[in-house]
Amino acid sequence: MTVDTMAEEGHRTDTAAEAPDMPEWDVSRYGPLRERLVILPRSQRSCTLVQPADLDRLLDLAQADPEEHLPYWAELWPSGIALADALLLDPSPIHGQRVLELGCGLGLTAIAALWAGAQLIATDYSAEALWLTRWNCSRNTGRVPDLFRMNWRRPSEQLARLIGSSSIPVILAADVLYEDRDVEPLLRLVEHLLAPGGLLWLAEPGRRTATTFIERLRQKGWSDEVATWSGPWPDAGDTAVVVAVHRLRRPRR
Ligand SMILES: C[S@@+](CC[C@H](N)C(=O)[O-])C[C@H]1O[C@@H](n2cnc3c(N)ncnc32)[C@H](O)[C@@H]1O
Repeated sequence: MTVDTMAEEGHRTDTAAEAPDMPEWDVSRYGPLRERLVILPRSQRSCTLVQPADLDRLLDLAQADPEEHLPYWAELWPSGIALADALLLDPSPIHGQRVLELGCGLGLTAIAALWAGAQLIATDYSAEALWLTRWNCSRNTGRVPDLFRMNWRRPSEQLARLIGSSSIPVILAADVLYEDRDVEPLLRLVEHLLAPGGLLWLAEPGRRTATTFIERLRQKGWSDEVATWSGPWPDAGDTAVVVAVHRLRRPRR
């Protein structure tokens, strides 16, 4: 893969790290945090997540961002819930495995992956998302994943060195395909990192961009096994959302 030399600020923590202090959360800038109980629809496992309470404030801050990075990391998405649930219903593909998550958000999928015994590297371009993932994972599982700040539009040399090409057996991603500009970078990244025969476990709520992405993989010989989740979701506005959880398997060669 061609990787830009434009290095991202990578920061890692040790998997066996001690419980972290409260994340460096700047209340005066981002507003207060709130706690919520999440119950996964099928496995019925529950966890408590910390998330920003004032999303409007984060949206106002995002208007100044030249890349228009909206604070989607601050919300709880049905796809993250469905993928977390799917991992707990069948932990065998990730148990004891090196697993990479793209776009970890608040860390719900990461919590489930740790419960399922994965050796997880959680990534996001938002430092705030990584803090919250660290906090939420520690609080619920007593462990924290390795955390790496990475923009998949400009994956860094550092990430390529850290992970190595074709070396990850499983990649997790929940609701990361909602902008057309992300299809090509995500295809390149996944094809660079995932081992032959490896699994991309992707949850998506039927967005066109995700359909395009999946179709591109199918054309390259990837297989796709799909299960659907229809909630119940914690947010009333999501009632009609149906999430497809894809197990996309890369051909061996
Ligand atoms: C819709 S949210 C989903 C969050 C979480 N996976 C879930 O399902 O709850 C998309 C996530 O991808 C991250 N993200 C978006 N664009 C990104 C990029 N170019 N590089 C890395 N992360 C990105 C966002 O910060 C956010 O955490």
